[in-house]
Amino acid sequence: MKKIGILTSGGDSSGMNACVRSIVRTALRMGIEVVGFKKGYLGLMKGDYIPLDSKAVSGIMHRGGTFLQSARSPEFRTPEGQKNALDGLKRLQVDGLIILGGDGSLTGALTLHKLGFPVIGIPASIDNDIPFTDMALGVDTALNNIIYAVDCIKDTASSHARAFVIEVMGRNSGYLASVSAIASGAEYALVPEREFDLSEICQQLRQRYEEGRDNAIIILAEGVAKGQDIADSIKDAIGFETRVTVLGHYQRGGAPTVFDRLLASRLGKKAVELLVAGNHGMMAGLSCNTIVATPLEDVIKGAKRPQDEVLRLAEVLGI
Ligand code: ADP
Ligand code: F6P
Repeated sequence: MKKIGILTSGGDSSGMNACVRSIVRTALRMGIEVVGFKKGYLGLMKGDYIPLDSKAVSGIMHRGGTFLQSARSPEFRTPEGQKNALDGLKRLQVDGLIILGGDGSLTGALTLHKLGFPVIGIPASIDNDIPFTDMALGVDTALNNIIYAVDCIKDTASSHARAFVIEVMGRNSGYLASVSAIASGAEYALVPEREFDLSEICQQLRQRYEEGRDNAIIILAEGVAKGQDIADSIKDAIGFETRVTVLGHYQRGGAPTVFDRLLASRLGKKAVELLVAGNHGMMAGLSCNTIVATPLEDVIKGAKRPQDEVLRLAEVLGI
């Protein structure tokens, strides 16, 4: 393998830069040239790339987002788009590709693998819904961002005797909501994986209020409902003031935590090793603190990452 390419795709996540740095450094050590495609599959189809030497990846470890930029590119889902990408890779004499992204991006990686191109995937998405990895890149940083925000909101909630609905990201996954509710000491986590009865929650809130506990934090996964709708229902039912905070894209940015920097470095190194060893069509992931490889085919056809343990913990803790 003489030349490899990297791209970051889908929603950006903190640690992508640290991972690109690790890939480049590992590859250069093995005498392999590296190029980075801009804006995910878009750059791959357009042949928009930059050479990545050691200098190109210095000073990026602590930066959130992705300096290669990311995009959603529907055109890559089509056979024409995929042909453009393969033609471009051939023209540039790229021998293998490492793709960082969420389940959509990894499905794209599997497509290229099935078309015969050597590919390795790295799970990078704050949603933590990708199976065969305990954590995807950026999840820990997003959780820390959320916890910081919830701690701040708790101060003002208690000062004004208000209930707050805090809407967090995660698409159809409730992982961010469950874990941030556990770690922030929130009263409730409303997640798509678990049914809940809003009128019962309102009743409990009213009882808490009557007992003198006059504020509450309800963490809502975006996949359940709009924060404002839930807050309106609570206000109508219990009478006391409610406010809504939608944390939005704030959750995705910021300097990666130590956990994400280390995970990024470990996954990047493993991805290059897999590619060079000819162990293609795999995803590098984290399992019981060990970096492991799983066929992309299993990752994509596997169910969503199981959230059972965290859901059970929330339940036991009365969240
Ligand atoms: P994420 O990777 O964060 O889940 P998306 O689901 O938006 O984000 O996917 C990112 C990109 O991956 C898409 O814009 C598209 O280019 C590519 N992709 C997604 N699904 C497929 C698919 N089924 N086949 C080929 N490419 C796909
Ligand atoms: O998949 C990552 C994610 O941040 C989701 O949690 C969220 O629903 C979505 O991406 C937001 O996408 P966009 O950045 O395109 O608004």
